[in-house]
Amino acid sequence: MEFAATSAKANSHTTGFAIVAVYQDAEMSTAARLLDKADGQISSALKSGEISGKTGELLQLRADDSLPCKRILLVGCGKRGELDRAAFRKAAQAVTQWLSAKPFKDVTNYLTLEPVKGANPERRAAIVAQTWLHGTYRFTQMKSKSADSSGDVAPQLKKMTLAANDASGARAVRKGAAYGEALGNGMNYMRDLANLPGNVCTPTHLAREARALAKKTPNLKCKVLSEADMKKLGMGSLLSVTAGTVEPAHLIVLEYTGAAKSTQPTVLVGKGITFDTGGISLKPPATMDEMKFDMSGAASVFGTFRALAELQPKRNVVGIIPTCENMPGGSATKPGDIVTSMSGQTIEVLNTDAEGRLILCDALTYAQKFYKPAALIDIATLTGACVIALGSHHAGLMANNDKLAAKLLAAGRNADDKAWQLPLGEDYERQLDSNFADMQNIGGREAGTITAGCFLGKFTRDADWAHIDIAGVAYLGGKAKGSTGRPVPLLLEYVING
Ligand code: BES
Ligand code: MN
Ligand code: ZN
Repeated sequence: MEFAATSAKANSHTTGFAIVAVYQDAEMSTAARLLDKADGQISSALKSGEISGKTGELLQLRADDSLPCKRILLVGCGKRGELDRAAFRKAAQAVTQWLSAKPFKDVTNYLTLEPVKGANPERRAAIVAQTWLHGTYRFTQMKSKSADSSGDVAPQLKKMTLAANDASGARAVRKGAAYGEALGNGMNYMRDLANLPGNVCTPTHLAREARALAKKTPNLKCKVLSEADMKKLGMGSLLSVTAGTVEPAHLIVLEYTGAAKSTQPTVLVGKGITFDTGGISLKPPATMDEMKFDMSGAASVFGTFRALAELQPKRNVVGIIPTCENMPGGSATKPGDIVTSMSGQTIEVLNTDAEGRLILCDALTYAQKFYKPAALIDIATLTGACVIALGSHHAGLMANNDKLAAKLLAAGRNADDKAWQLPLGEDYERQLDSNFADMQNIGGREAGTITAGCFLGKFTRDADWAHIDIAGVAYLGGKAKGSTGRPVPLLLEYVING
């Protein structure tokens, strides 16, 4: 699929299919009005109530012979003057869904001409492109062809031209479409990795993916540390999590250099537990399969780097991915075991299911030791408590720096990938006091998301740091089970416009 831009008017631009907005109360967009002049078809469809104009409503018409397009798709956009980003996304989604099941190869989309609250032409183009990629995503790589009875045909569309008002608008639209495409590709890359089962997407598989991504991108370097390397660095906390499994753990480092070498990087640290059984503190069986998604933080870093590789922004970004399995076994860590982290702090492991923080703390120490982060951000499916607190709409955000928190919250809002800030502080930190070690790895039932954040806070005193708990937003359960691609939109927005 290719995105292009045009500043030609709807009644003078040759295309197979013109997609134009209509509004409630029989109101037409400018593009619709231009096409309506030929035969009055659109106004009569609105007057007769064939289409009411509600957001996302669609009606296909055959265009009058005098027009340069063959067909017209009317798209309801709600009340005129009230179109906001959420409604615009809904309309774009309806178009994507409809078009992906049709044989049309070449369409021109005039929706990008419509005024949208909180979205200039560039942003509108980005939303259309992102929505197309996100909406046409299918995870089919684990289905044998013969067994795939879904009847789902791959979308036929080859080219979507996005409309702009003038030449400079067309440039903005082209730029926005490129951003939306990179974002959509990055999200879908995340989804592919996260949707893969734990027996395929192992720590070694992630390491292979990182090397492949770096090989394709000249200014992206990749380094993979082995368990022996980690042992030398003193990563006793990370290694305690991998003790019960036969799959080797890795620490993956990605370095994207788009600015001068001296520019301090943004460092993204992603939790890469490729399967979380809970370890000796074994999880109950119901929905345990969803713990293959416990590497979603890592996958979101991969997705962001894939987008960076495509967009080549003038930024320096480092990705650090501690990755292993959390399994029970004869050599597994036991409740009560005490381990020494790379920072030197000792940790009493009271619950082996609170393993995310144990791998992240050493990765965060590593980040501060070998890089001088402008900002240090970890992303993790860290606590079930976060799902209870915020559901699947907002990610949980905690930070030791309010400016950084504000920037990340704004990035989330602008990208429609929202986060909500939770507090940190000594009152909560005390819940981690241990009788036997410097701290314990759980803080009791109360404020479970915050005490997990406080735990990480003990390892990030030397940086401006933020923690994003994505346990609720990274994937859906139930019938729509699968990775969402979140929070790649927030991360990319922050890294590029931060
Ligand atoms: N990966 C889980 C968190 C999780 C739970 C993510 C549900 C998505 C859905 C994490 O490793 C975990 O098990 N956390 C424990 C912590 C507890 C033992 C303090 C939890 O949330 O129950
Ligand atoms: Mn766990
Ligand atoms: Zn986990």
